[in-house]
Amino acid sequence: GTAGWAALPFAWRGVRLHASGARELRVRLTPSGDRVALSVADGTGTPVASVESLVLRPFSAGQLSAAPADALFEVEWIVAPGSASDEATRTPDGALPETHRDLSTVPEPAPEDVLVTLEPGEATGPAAVREATVRALTLVRRWLEDERFDASRLVLLTRGAMVTSPGDGAPDPALAAVWGLVRTAETENPGRFALIDTDATDASHAALAEAVRNGERESALRRGQLRLPRLARPTPAPLVPPEGASWRVDVTGSRSLDALAVVESAEAVRELGAGEVRVAVRAAGVNFHDVVVGLGLVDGESVLGSEGAGVVVDTGPEVADLRVGDRVTGLFPGAFAPMVVAEARALVRMPEEWSFVAAAGVPVAFMTAYYGLADLAGLRRGESVLVHSAAGGVGMAAVQLAREWGVEVFATASPSKWDQVVAGGVRRERVFSSRTTDFAAGVLAATGGRGVDVVLNSLAGEFVDASLDVLACGGRFVEMGKTDIRDGERVRAAYPDVSYRAFDLAEAGPARLGEMLRDVVRLLESGVLRHPPVSVWDVRRVPEALRFMSQARHVGKVVLTMPVVGGRV
Ligand SMILES: NC(=O)c1ccc[n+]([C@@H]2O[C@H](COP(=O)([O-])OP(=O)(O)OC[C@H]3O[C@@H](n4cnc5c(N)ncnc54)[C@H](OP(=O)(O)O)[C@@H]3O)[C@@H](O)[C@H]2O)c1
Repeated sequence: GTAGWAALPFAWRGVRLHASGARELRVRLTPSGDRVALSVADGTGTPVASVESLVLRPFSAGQLSAAPADALFEVEWIVAPGSASDEATRTPDGALPETHRDLSTVPEPAPEDVLVTLEPGEATGPAAVREATVRALTLVRRWLEDERFDASRLVLLTRGAMVTSPGDGAPDPALAAVWGLVRTAETENPGRFALIDTDATDASHAALAEAVRNGERESALRRGQLRLPRLARPTPAPLVPPEGASWRVDVTGSRSLDALAVVESAEAVRELGAGEVRVAVRAAGVNFHDVVVGLGLVDGESVLGSEGAGVVVDTGPEVADLRVGDRVTGLFPGAFAPMVVAEARALVRMPEEWSFVAAAGVPVAFMTAYYGLADLAGLRRGESVLVHSAAGGVGMAAVQLAREWGVEVFATASPSKWDQVVAGGVRRERVFSSRTTDFAAGVLAATGGRGVDVVLNSLAGEFVDASLDVLACGGRFVEMGKTDIRDGERVRAAYPDVSYRAFDLAEAGPARLGEMLRDVVRLLESGVLRHPPVSVWDVRRVPEALRFMSQARHVGKVVLTMPVVGGRV
């Protein structure tokens, strides 16, 4: 090409496909003025496609820089004005609308809005997409053909078809395809269709009438909150890491997550010491500690990330059991980076079938819960534990481990997350709010005034006092938070029958950390423990990911994915 400009395809004419399924292609271009003709053949010379003419238009670097810098938009699911807050405790404001499985049960005359629920079918994979779209197409055609429905709107209800925020998890591809189909039908027949995607929580069910009344073509209900898709400028602009592996995400000083930046870092390419390995990071787990450091609230700490999963690309001296090419998970210092140096002892090989994202969320949460409950509190079968913030990373791990060890679990969490805590096996009457100290009365009432044997704490202030109040005689208070560490002597003076211990996971030392991690991975692999739910963000969106966590909107773990550097690993 000519320096400074490139030719972009502009108009195609006479495009013919002769065959499909070729695994390699040879393309012959025949230029003629501002256009080219193309003939495409497979490896044996058999014609695959031909194009009579493709008009090319020059495009220069100057045009690129002249383009408006803020021309990029994305779909953002905003909270509908006046919609309830994101809480699971909502009750219906009026009668719940009637829903149907197909059109046969719709009464006559048909109501203004006819709600049909599109349940996922039996099939999986591509067959599920086909089955769901064929079902939806049949429904749409019947709806349009039947005069009884001429004055009505068909509102299709789906579950998990749309991602309205990273916390939603992956969308159901079959139902997402149905959304595409119904959108097209709506464009062709304005006012005749609408789509509502729910998360199937009781609160969202209660808000269904509000969503229908709203009259939007597309909406979603999440934990009782009505959300609407709107075009918005991406904010803040994503971070732009340089090529190569010599960078990491860092705190640049000002007390805002928007001040996080990508900085040059030679740490990952330094010479390896004894027992060290170099790892190409593929995913990094986010911990609440990263939020605090990211906000610049921890003096002297600016390195983000402490765990992840990736591939060993180099080993130092005295590394016996890891080799280049091993997929590993464990503690990665400065993990918000494409390459790190880690201690081999704090890493384990990942089971074959684990994704990097799933593996990256395991180490810190499970090891912290394990160390706090087993090593420090000495929790035993038949005892009881109160786990605070039980829908978070450490909390979910703690609930699972405690249950596995035959311990009775009491838990706190935001009310909007209670469903998940109950789904994790905690009895509903033992789940309390993490935002008021009412849990203390609840726990005492549920234990006949005795209290619990262990508290795993991360809350502060009056929550600490209330938690100390619910410890049974001989109880152990294990503090993993950093913001309200009490003086052990004073606690002993006020509560002579209980022990108080604050800790940091690092104190376990690399040998014990490795041991615990191996045990946790084994329990996860055998199905005794389950991976927590994960919200995934690209590392370039790290300020948003940390903000999401700081607002406690997540359940389980938040994980960042990294670009692959240094070739394919
Ligand atoms: N000592 C150690 O070595 C160590 C290691 C790992 C973690 N930790 C500590 O353990 C705790 C849990 O860590 P994690 O990474 O697993 O985080 P996380 O539990 O996933 O997230 C923190 C949780 O805190 C709860 N929370 C209560 N009040 C809050 C408020 N005012 N603002 C924001 N969140 C609030 C939220 O749950 P609800 O919405 O349910 O209330 C939120 O999900 C943190 O305190 C962390 O520093 C300590």
